[in-house]
Amino acid sequence: MSFFAAEIDGPLVLTRAIHFAASATVAGVLTFRGLVAQPALRPSPEGYAIVQARLVGLTWAGLAVAVATGILWLTLETMMLAGVAFGEAIRSGAMLVVVNETQFGLVSEIRGGLAVVLAACLMLDRFALARWVGLAAGLSLVAAIAWTGHAGATLGGLGDLHLAADGLHLLAASAWIGGLAGLSVLFAVGRRRPAPGWGPLQFDAVGRFSILGIVSVAALIASGAVNTWILVGSVRALLVTDYGRLLLVKFAAFIIMVSLAAVNRVSLTPRLVAGVKSGAEPNALAALKRNTLVEIALGLAIFAIVGVLGTLHPAIHLVE
Ligand code: HEM
Repeated sequence: MSFFAAEIDGPLVLTRAIHFAASATVAGVLTFRGLVAQPALRPSPEGYAIVQARLVGLTWAGLAVAVATGILWLTLETMMLAGVAFGEAIRSGAMLVVVNETQFGLVSEIRGGLAVVLAACLMLDRFALARWVGLAAGLSLVAAIAWTGHAGATLGGLGDLHLAADGLHLLAASAWIGGLAGLSVLFAVGRRRPAPGWGPLQFDAVGRFSILGIVSVAALIASGAVNTWILVGSVRALLVTDYGRLLLVKFAAFIIMVSLAAVNRVSLTPRLVAGVKSGAEPNALAALKRNTLVEIALGLAIFAIVGVLGTLHPAIHLVE
C-alpha cells in the first residue's frame, strides 16, 4: 500500500506505530507520576491515591500493548528476513535465528527482559525502590528502540552520536506525549472525584507539566535536528524525496502541537490561576482539557508517521 506516495508495508507500519505509542505511554506516564503527580498532589494523599491507581492501570495497559506489538513486530521482521509466511515464521524456528543472530533480535530480547522487570516492579509498586527500578526499566524500554531503527544502522562515531540523539528523542517524545496522557488522567479524576482543595493542586500539576513539556520540546528539537542532519542531510533531500516530504508533514504536526502548548502556557494557565482564586473561569480548564486531547491525537499521528519513516530508505541515500 502507499502512504503519501511512499510504498509501505501496512501491517509493519501499524505495528511499529502502536508499539511506539504504547512504549511512550509506559515511560511517559511513569515520568509524569514521579515528576508531576506525586509532588503536586502531596497535600492530598486521598487525591493522589486515586490518581496513582489510574496511572498504574494505564502503565499496565501500555505495557501489555507494547509486549503484544513487540512480539508481532519481531514476527513481521522474521517474515521479511526469512521470506516466510506468518505461521511459518513462528513454527519454523526462523524467529529463533532472528533473535539469536540479528541486532534487532538481541534488542528485542533485552527489551523483553526490561518488560518483565517492569511488570514485577508494578506488582510491587507500594515499595519506593520498586517504583524507581520500574521507572528506570520503563525509560530503558523506550530508549532501546533506537537500536532497532536507522540509528542502529549508522556506523562509527557518527553511529554513537545518532544512537545517543535517537535515544534522547524517544525519551523526550515519551515524556511529552505519555505525560499528556497522565495529565488527562489527572483531569478526569478532578472531574469525577475531586478531593477537597483540588483546584490549586490541579493548577500546580499543570504548571509542573508545562515545565516538563518545555524541556521535552527542547530535547525533541535538538535530537530531531541531529536525526535529520544524519538521515536527510540537505534541504533538497527534504523536498524531493518521499522520506523528506513525510518528515515535513511530521514537522507541521509538531509545530501545531507546540503552538497549542504555547496557548496553554501563555493564555489558559494564567486564566486557570485567576479562576482558582475567583472560583470562576471553568472555560479555561475546559479549553486546557480539549487542547490536551488534541495534542495527544497529533502525537499519535506523529507515531504513525515515524512508523513509516523507519521503514523507508533515508533521504540522504536517495539524492546525489
Ligand atoms: C512530538 C514531537 C515528536 C515525536 C513524538 C517524535 C517521535 C519520534 C519517534 C518515536 C521516532 C522513531 C525513532 C526510531 O525509530 O528510532 C522519531 C524519529 C525521528 N524524528 Fe521525531 N519526534 C518528534 C519531533 C521531531 C522533531 C521536532 C524532529 C526534527 C527537528 C524530528 C525528527 C526525527 C527524525 C529525522 C527521525 C528519524 C526517523 C527514522 O528513523 O528514519 N522529530 N521521532
